[in-house]
Amino acid sequence: MRIPGTVPLGGLIHPKDSAQVSVRKDLKGQINGPLISPTFLQERIHDLAVAICRDAKNEKANEIQVVVVLKGAAPFANMLCQEIYRCGGPPVRINYIKASSYAKSLESSGEVKIEGHLPYIRHKDVIIVDDIVDTGLTLAKLKKYFLKERRAASVRICALLDKKARRLPRLRKGLKIDYIGFNIPNMFVAGYGIDCAEKFREIPYVVAVNEGYFGKKKGRK
Ligand code: PRP
Repeated sequence: MRIPGTVPLGGLIHPKDSAQVSVRKDLKGQINGPLISPTFLQERIHDLAVAICRDAKNEKANEIQVVVVLKGAAPFANMLCQEIYRCGGPPVRINYIKASSYAKSLESSGEVKIEGHLPYIRHKDVIIVDDIVDTGLTLAKLKKYFLKERRAASVRICALLDKKARRLPRLRKGLKIDYIGFNIPNMFVAGYGIDCAEKFREIPYVVAVNEGYFGKKKGRK
């Protein structure tokens, strides 16, 4: 991979992007600044696609089954699947599932709700695509559900952001993230599909959110 997988507190701002990532005036006070600029997002997602295609080739897979976790992962998954195509990967079957543990709150409820039309994944190798791993509860629950109840042959996880400092102790070793975009510091983030109390999903890159403005809660996002 060409770029660092760990994001420093000051962010990863590509020189090409500096003009287009200044915080909009009306959002000043809510957003501290950009954390990962569009070029770095695109490059890293390309690299993730290369890794996924390489594994698919080694395993002689004739298709890639992706399950996207709504809502936050949609923009990431779109670009990832397009990059898999550009890399010459096998056809991608894309399905969506809704899993949610935060609702409009900033703190995980600890309960993960799975909704939506579930794809037929029996005996299939599946890649779950999510935007951010925090406590790890959502992905641990989805992985277990896909393997034990839906009888997938295997389940891998691809996440754009990983906030390791927030992982539940039992999941630090118990939950493997197979493809990680960026390790990020323990701070509120939003943008590129990720919300903070349902705001900022439409921002086209990842931003650092002003925790003070959102009530200084200890949660993520
Ligand atoms: C977010 C995110 C992950 C999960 C990570 O979803 O998309 O699925 O939280 O948190 P965890 O590791 O602590 O489980 P959220 O519940 O906010 O739903 P959303 O994608 O619709 O925003």
